[in-house]
Amino acid sequence: NSSHIAVNEPVLSYLPGSAERTQLQAALEQQHAQCVDLPLVIAGRHQQRSDTVEVVSPHAHQHRLARLSQATPADVEQAVQAACAAQRDWSQWSLDARCEVFLKAADLLAGPWRQKLNAATMLGQSKTVQQAEIDAACELIDFLRFNVQFAQELAAQQPLSSPGVRNRMDCRPLEGFVYAITPFNFTAIGGNLATAPVLMGNTVVWKPSATASLSNYLFMELLEEAGLPPGVINFVPGDPQVVSGAVLSSPHLAGIHFTGSTAVFDSLWQQTAQHLPHYRAYPRLVGETGGKDFVLAHPSADAAALAAALVRGAFEFQGQKCSAASRAYIPSSLWPQVKERMLAMLAEIRMGDVRDFSNFMGAVIDRKAFQRIKGYIDAARTDSRCQLVAGGTADDSEGFFVAPTVIQVSDPQHALMREEIFGPVLAVYVFDDGQWDAVVQLVDQTSPYALTGAVFARDRQVLAQLGQALRFAAGNFYINDKPTGAVVGQQPFGGARRSGTNDKAGSAWNLLRWVSPRTVKETH
Ligand code: ALA
Repeated sequence: NSSHIAVNEPVLSYLPGSAERTQLQAALEQQHAQCVDLPLVIAGRHQQRSDTVEVVSPHAHQHRLARLSQATPADVEQAVQAACAAQRDWSQWSLDARCEVFLKAADLLAGPWRQKLNAATMLGQSKTVQQAEIDAACELIDFLRFNVQFAQELAAQQPLSSPGVRNRMDCRPLEGFVYAITPFNFTAIGGNLATAPVLMGNTVVWKPSATASLSNYLFMELLEEAGLPPGVINFVPGDPQVVSGAVLSSPHLAGIHFTGSTAVFDSLWQQTAQHLPHYRAYPRLVGETGGKDFVLAHPSADAAALAAALVRGAFEFQGQKCSAASRAYIPSSLWPQVKERMLAMLAEIRMGDVRDFSNFMGAVIDRKAFQRIKGYIDAARTDSRCQLVAGGTADDSEGFFVAPTVIQVSDPQHALMREEIFGPVLAVYVFDDGQWDAVVQLVDQTSPYALTGAVFARDRQVLAQLGQALRFAAGNFYINDKPTGAVVGQQPFGGARRSGTNDKAGSAWNLLRWVSPRTVKETH
């Protein structure tokens, strides 16, 4: 058996004059100039449908990038059948042979496909060049390579045998197919949700988000070039009710691999519960949902590090990260310096068309997101408990642009401190230094989520206390760092409470959910 040791893919810099910059610019020009038809892919057949939705650039919403075919219930039924049929063969492939497909895919993405995926992620999801490189290139390559290593490590874990008795664990896949429902905000998440179950021998019906469909479809093509057989992943964009309705009623549903909102994940649990007697096995429900991620500062914290973490944690990626810093608790003794430093940094932030590489932020994903985020900001303007510290403007004349916004709230139970906004809005609660213990409680109890969180202090005893007091408040806990930017292989990612099932994306813990092991005892 081969064993693969993964290392993180280096992040390219795209400096003027670099080869990667020239290649990316060419890919951007080409993709911007055309409007492509994105088909369904069922059993390896690429099929256009007359019913389509338009895919536009969020930073230039009059600009059409693609027409996305919409699956009908009959298409979804075919995709389910294709996945079930493909599983008979695919699950018989040796783990090494399956790993080869994904290592090849990683090499293609690191090489000839890198700028195609980056350009699609920039244009379709309004990510800046650095955001796209971190997501569609490095993180997705890392998911592919590290999952191979983790799968091989799992397969190597075998039970004891004894004289005359040989015991082994057969890493069977789940019996049936896995349904991957994937979000717009990370090209890498879509790729990982679709491929992790497949690496373990499962087959997948993949419903991408319409707003990430350009990059997701290109990744599907890349997998085909890497040698993924027809039917192993079936790409079925479409109306969520239509696609999920048809998928969830199949008796062969074996699992759901989801990233998206808590409300949708709740509904998936409810729908699967209704179909339960009809399923051949209990489906595995694996989901990463919302967050209301905190930054808590102690009076001993370093103000400069804290301010930088707040700006990067809240506003990189337009705040559209489930891990984004969105509620901060700052002691009054530190606030004036932190605020001053944040305002200085915010004054430097450029936002605009991501084809201009000097922009730090692009647009938010679509009109619905724009209106939701703007709604929170507008409500804050007339709320006596809120004070606008920075930003507050939103302009959708060309693209869905929301300025990085900081709102100080006097009520720690305010909706801005509890609800996920999923945009570039940071709520700050400034507390008296003497209220420390009560504030630690607030951090733990205010929001129903528990995805990421960060604490800042130079006092080691305080850090030890926070590690205990906030043990269940975050699945990814950061000490003196921003609560975002988990790296595959370094910080396995996921949270509990209403943030999901905490099955750590990009780790052996996640892969275990896609295995239904058989124990074999053989006597001689
Ligand atoms: N995994 C991404 C992060 O940690 C969402 O920021």
